[in-house]
Amino acid sequence: MDKIALLEQKRKEALLGGGAKRIEDQHKKGKLTARERLTLLLDEGSFEEIGMFVTHRNRDFGMEKEIYPGDGVVTGYGTINSRLVYVFSQDFTVFGGSLSETHAEKICKIMDLAMENGAPLIGLNDSGGARIQEGVVSLGGYADIFHRNVKSSGVIPQISAIMGPCAGGAVYSPAITDFILMVEHTSYMFVTGPNVVKTVTHENVSSEELGGAHTHASKSGVTHFACANEVECIENIKRLISYMPQNCEDDAPVYPYETGDESRPKLNNIVPDNANQPYDIKEIIEELADKDSFLEVHKDYAENIVVGFARLAGRSIGIVANQPAMLAGVLDISSSKKGARFTRFCDAFNIPLLVLVDVPGFLPGTDQEWNGIIINGAKLLYALSEATVPKVTVITRKAYGGAYDVMNSKHIGADMNYAWPSSEIAVMGAKGAAEIIFKKEIAAAEDHDGKWKEKEMEYLEKFANPYGAAARGFVDEVIMPQDTRSKLIRTFKMLENKVASMSKRKHGNIPL
Ligand code: HXC
Repeated sequence: MDKIALLEQKRKEALLGGGAKRIEDQHKKGKLTARERLTLLLDEGSFEEIGMFVTHRNRDFGMEKEIYPGDGVVTGYGTINSRLVYVFSQDFTVFGGSLSETHAEKICKIMDLAMENGAPLIGLNDSGGARIQEGVVSLGGYADIFHRNVKSSGVIPQISAIMGPCAGGAVYSPAITDFILMVEHTSYMFVTGPNVVKTVTHENVSSEELGGAHTHASKSGVTHFACANEVECIENIKRLISYMPQNCEDDAPVYPYETGDESRPKLNNIVPDNANQPYDIKEIIEELADKDSFLEVHKDYAENIVVGFARLAGRSIGIVANQPAMLAGVLDISSSKKGARFTRFCDAFNIPLLVLVDVPGFLPGTDQEWNGIIINGAKLLYALSEATVPKVTVITRKAYGGAYDVMNSKHIGADMNYAWPSSEIAVMGAKGAAEIIFKKEIAAAEDHDGKWKEKEMEYLEKFANPYGAAARGFVDEVIMPQDTRSKLIRTFKMLENKVASMSKRKHGNIPL
């Protein structure tokens, strides 16, 4: 066979992975192959493969007779909307996508290139875990990947899509990356599967219930996105990446935007007069952001806080917002962790932050206290405090107690703080405040409730407005809701060249 024909034949063989039958099985499960996924992810014709002919070195258990070029993972680079990304895509048709020594080496090579060249890393995971025939070299391979994930953290964006099994220690690479996406019904993640769970805790639970996309999107918060199918998952990756810079020294891409009438009169009528009545903060976000630009992250987890990316006059921003429509927007353990993690991503990658505040405080109760609301609430405080990107706050209604401080107050370094006329900035709600500070007067009065109401009104009048805070400069300006979008566009433009940094140190010690 001539040399050209030999190469062609070898390539053809590699493209088939584990063979036609196993590809068919993959399709039958409603899954695409590793290569089909890359074709959907990357710009047409942009994929350059690296390591197509790598094979494993295992000679135990008859493995010398089972050699597949590529060894169960397709690796290389390509572009998404003309921007460079490095990718690996595990091939379930080869030993169930399991990770051998050489499989790990291929991934590490790509990770090193991504770091050295400052471009995002995207991993498409579909794997039965450690290559069982290989033993400790496979475990070593995982750790080599974990270590690189950690070294890359905050330097280049790292995204993991889970498109099949991801179990045992294998979950820890995605866990260290910035964003996880899962596909409903065909992917799952757990440290120990249903059989081990049954043996140890006597619980009967299915894979889907234990670690499916819905579970991790709503209960554990492990995944940021639960996608209906693989195509939606890949579209979400592309969208996600569009808000990010290539690396921590770069700025996010700016999309073309023509300034028009930026007034949004609808904003004047979203916040109800009654402070106890809920409303959907996402309605406000939709009005503030460029049309259809809001990409919510962690949509189904800790819904009392909303986080996500958006564009403002074509520029990326990260939004952290209390959600009065869920538990009155209270801060609890889960929402604090969710807000903090998102804030830290934005800060690491130069994405300015907009914080929308309507918060009654921290959630009381033994459950919260015993599970560490102190430490966990502090995460959000720490993250917003340490962020040096432009930080802008808009208080739409309540900003009570410690939560006022935490939610990007002036005192923890916000650059510009706005309040709507509906704002109430106080130590606590008027009813509770009156009960405490006028306790004796209320007790002495003949008409208890009448007195209480009177004192509540007195407190409300004094503090249920933004003017006390504005008088001290804690709020920079009280603004008309309808002008908020134009104000924010100008403010972020004004802050575009902000230079700020934390003191030199090895790293801070965020309360983990
Ligand atoms: C080698 C594996 C494999 C593995 C699957 N295969 N997992 N080969 N090592 N870990 C092979 C199968 O032998 C089979 O080969 C093919 O992949 C497809 O597997 P099936 O079982 O037919 O597929 P399916 O029914 O879809 O089940 C998928 C599965 C199951 C749930 C992933 O294969 C499974 O339970 N595998 C073992 C998982 C496991 O225990 N992994 C080790 C975890 S410990 P053929 O030739 O028939 O196509 C771990 C530690 C990591 O990962 C620690 C890091 C620190």
